[in-house]
Amino acid sequence: MPRLPLTPGRDLHIIGCAPARQRSGAGSALVQWGVNLADSLGLPSRLEASPAGYGLYRKFGYEDVAVMDVKVSEIWGRTKPPGSNWGENNAVDLAGPVPPGAQRTVIMRRPQKRAIV
Ligand SMILES: CC(C)(COP(=O)(O)OP(=O)(O)OC[C@H]1O[C@@H](n2cnc3c(N)ncnc32)[C@H](O)[C@@H]1OP(=O)(O)O)[C@@H](O)C(=O)NCCC(=O)NCCS
Repeated sequence: MPRLPLTPGRDLHIIGCAPARQRSGAGSALVQWGVNLADSLGLPSRLEASPAGYGLYRKFGYEDVAVMDVKVSEIWGRTKPPGSNWGENNAVDLAGPVPPGAQRTVIMRRPQKRAIV
């Protein structure tokens, strides 16, 4: 995993939306609030993206930094139900395909959008 310089920034903590209310814009509104705050401070921000959150964060300018592929099937014996999302399409350019039975979390960073004055 690459070593990141220790720079000031904002960390986006876990967000979640009730399954019945997903894809209604609540997640986007929360991330918009966070990136507006970071921009108002002239700071970069960073987060850990779950498989479901990755596409949302890409839309807001977060870039892939590193991945954590957890061998869920090997460790917990959990199988992958058809149609489920374990992050197979996430950060493939950076880290290649997700190993079979693994779930991918992506460390992401959004550069600062304004110079600190
Ligand atoms: C990630 C999450 C917070 C997004 O909240 P939301 O209110 O559904 O987000 P929005 O309605 O603003 O959707 C924006 C984008 O998020 C992504 N997204 C939302 N739900 C998704 C899902 N179940 N699978 C994959 N991508 C999803 C899509 O890119 C979507 O854009 P699109 O509808 O144009 O494809 C929500 O799916 C969730 O709570 N997931 C479970 C918990 C989780 O993984 N949280 C993130 C931790 S990092």
